[in-house]
Amino acid sequence: MTVETEKLSTLLHENRTFPPSESFRAQANFQDENIYQRALDDPETYWAEQAGELSWFKPFEIVCSWQPPHAKWFIEGKLNAAYNCVDRHTETWRKNKAAIIWEGEPGDQRVITYDMLRREVDKAAHMLKSLGVKKGDRVTIYLPMIPELPVAMLACAKIGAVHSIVFGGFSAKSLRERIIDADSKILITADAGWRRGKQIPLKANADIAVEETPIEQVVVVSRVGAESNITMKDGRDAYWHELIKQSPTTPFEPEQMDSEDILFLLYTSGTTGKPKGIVHTTAGYLTGANTSMRTVFDLKDSDIFFCTADIGWITGHTYIVYGPLSAGATVVMYEGSPDYPGRDRFWEMVDHYGVTILYTAPTSIRTFMKWGPQYLEQHDLSSLRLLGTVGEPINPEAWMWYHEHIGKKRCPIVDTWWQTETGCAMIAPLPGIVETKPGSATRAVPGIEIDIVDEQGNSVDAKDGGYLVIKKPWPSMLRTVWGDDERFQKTYFGQFKDTYLPGDGAHRDEQGYIWILGRIDDVINVSGHRIGTAEVESALVAHPAVAEAAVIGRSDAIKGQAITAFVSVREGARTDDALIAELKQSVVEKIGAMARPEEIIFSAELPKTRSAKIMRRLLRDIAEGRVLGDTTTLADPTVVEELKAQYKDTE
Ligand code: WT7
Repeated sequence: MTVETEKLSTLLHENRTFPPSESFRAQANFQDENIYQRALDDPETYWAEQAGELSWFKPFEIVCSWQPPHAKWFIEGKLNAAYNCVDRHTETWRKNKAAIIWEGEPGDQRVITYDMLRREVDKAAHMLKSLGVKKGDRVTIYLPMIPELPVAMLACAKIGAVHSIVFGGFSAKSLRERIIDADSKILITADAGWRRGKQIPLKANADIAVEETPIEQVVVVSRVGAESNITMKDGRDAYWHELIKQSPTTPFEPEQMDSEDILFLLYTSGTTGKPKGIVHTTAGYLTGANTSMRTVFDLKDSDIFFCTADIGWITGHTYIVYGPLSAGATVVMYEGSPDYPGRDRFWEMVDHYGVTILYTAPTSIRTFMKWGPQYLEQHDLSSLRLLGTVGEPINPEAWMWYHEHIGKKRCPIVDTWWQTETGCAMIAPLPGIVETKPGSATRAVPGIEIDIVDEQGNSVDAKDGGYLVIKKPWPSMLRTVWGDDERFQKTYFGQFKDTYLPGDGAHRDEQGYIWILGRIDDVINVSGHRIGTAEVESALVAHPAVAEAAVIGRSDAIKGQAITAFVSVREGARTDDALIAELKQSVVEKIGAMARPEEIIFSAELPKTRSAKIMRRLLRDIAEGRVLGDTTTLADPTVVEELKAQYKDTE
């Protein structure tokens, strides 16, 4: 892995700026720029203040101990994450405030107040305890986006058990690997989940996954009523609703957890094939999640917060469950697909529930662009006041579309850069203070110190590209990789001494704004020119005919790498040689001749993981004619066959 420090000044000429409106600024939680300097001068005091927003059974004595690469935060403190997310709100006026407004894909709805959530979580905690779950045990959860998912997480937290959630779109094989790695004795799943009107057979997958693993007990939520289609194994499997009936209705005493006790594991892909179990601990993670709700998301008690991610990913952990609930917010949680039964499903929900803050991914925004604005026009979106984006660099065109068509030019956009490993948003504007620029995540949040460095770890000049690094420990940082501390040390601290390496390339403009160039392994080197795939994609998507583009570097005997662009066009656009020529020219114009795509392949859909990330490695495999690797995380496997066929046609 190397990053050359050549000039990237030709990339991303984005000069538009969007200051917060006077009315937004006037109501914002944070309006004073000094917060940045104060946090920089004394991060420990800043973080101690933030941790003070949580409820502690016993206050912490020491804010941080840093023995690189191992950090401990809020030492000697005792607290419970579920108590912070649920119980403490029932002791205030929020008792009957909606915690979760849930909508199932078929249209069923549930509103769960904080008091109702407390009772549900306590019953589930009693149930888990009766099944033998103790503090420190790992509980694997493989559920669709139904209320039992946050209830199960919080029940684990209440007991002090460690949850390990496996996204419902993962295959049996992936689930099995994660169960074995975490050494879980108990699995919570459902008969099936709904997706575009079809049933996803979770229990059937689970049956395959748990064979010859440590799993002794499988708890099954009846979601679709598929009792007759699934088999329940005697002595191993039991229904959630039947077990819950036997739970006492008395409150469950929250376990007094040490600040550094593990709250959860969440598996994420690394550069090797084996997923890494990212370890997050109680106090630091919760402090980070809670703080960012107040700073980045400007959360008020009157907000209705809709994060469209799945709880199976870190975005859902932090911004559906632990962040908003610890802050006493009302969240909207949706089970299904954005185009079921119609392409206006999200907008219908925004309208019905009066959503004020919407948090989604660039890939979704580009999908909405592709569908066209008519689906928005049927609904009243005037409740929205703040928009967020996460997951990949957002191209300025998608940013502008979000701003114009969804935000109606009224709502600040917070582009939030972070990772499973960082626990919460690291680079993002505070929306009442920072002027935004389309495509830039702007600057590090208060209390976080970011730099961009060359291979030697020296800061690079403005406009030079380099490695993004985080220079100081922060409360919600991963503590290790489960069962593999060596991998933790090597992956994140192996390159630079005492400095965290996220694996992203970035550059800074003259005003100090940070522009994420994408994963280092997604940076292409053409004839010695380092080009971020994000820039080429951004240039392509700027063309009115293009809805979405994915760019990869395929090996080329002369140039080292050549650029292949996979492009999906907007409905009605022509896909002919003239368009190919236009697109190539537009890339040359926006970036330079070295970025001209060698070939452009039109595709109705781009292959995406079920978490909606474009699978660039898979596109590289297609472009280079290799045998396909693991496609189990692919949302729609037929996309690949179509692409392969189309690629052959261009040869
Ligand atoms: C990687 C982390 C954090 C939740 C979702 C992804 C990319 C994430 C942004 C952003 C540019 C972004 C980075 C990062 N990424 N957010 N706002 N702008 N890139 O979590 O699966 O752990 O992936 O996603 O490359 O390293 P994840």
